[in-house]
Amino acid sequence: MKKQQFISDYVIYDDEKELELKDAELLSQAHEAVQGSYASYSHFHVGAAVRLLNGVVVKGANIENAAYPSGLCAERVALFAAQAQYPDVPIEAIAITAESEHNEIDEPIAPCGACRQVMVEAEQRSQRPLRIICQGHKGAIMVFDGIETLMPFIFLTKFL
Ligand code: THU
Repeated sequence: MKKQQFISDYVIYDDEKELELKDAELLSQAHEAVQGSYASYSHFHVGAAVRLLNGVVVKGANIENAAYPSGLCAERVALFAAQAQYPDVPIEAIAITAESEHNEIDEPIAPCGACRQVMVEAEQRSQRPLRIICQGHKGAIMVFDGIETLMPFIFLTKFL
């Protein structure tokens, strides 16, 4: 028997002024993307912005549905739209933000497990580490370089 640890590296910034300009711009586009959210049931509005290697930014927002599982998270809306529109262009980074109608979200929101699994495949397809930038409505920003820091023991296509 051997006890092991998984150690995850990430960086916390106090605010957007500390970010590199292109990451600060992507985060600002994620905040804009919140406007596209349709969250009639949770009242929790999420915005995501995906930056491609060619500099194009594709936005997404969470879209809910009365048949709850038919809705989709902002991250997957943005990642799938990016892949559908630019199938051959690698993805460099994704920024994620959230606003709630009930509380002030002043801490970073991390993507759900299903979105992390989709990020795994986006990263593999892109053949480069995916930069994941998370903020709430305001406040501290968490940055992960590579999905493996957020998703240990990834399910890989090589097992198929
Ligand atoms: N949501 C996202 O868009 N991204 C996440 O990473 C977590 C949750 C959405 C799904 C749903 O519309 C609402 O937030 C509440 O769960």
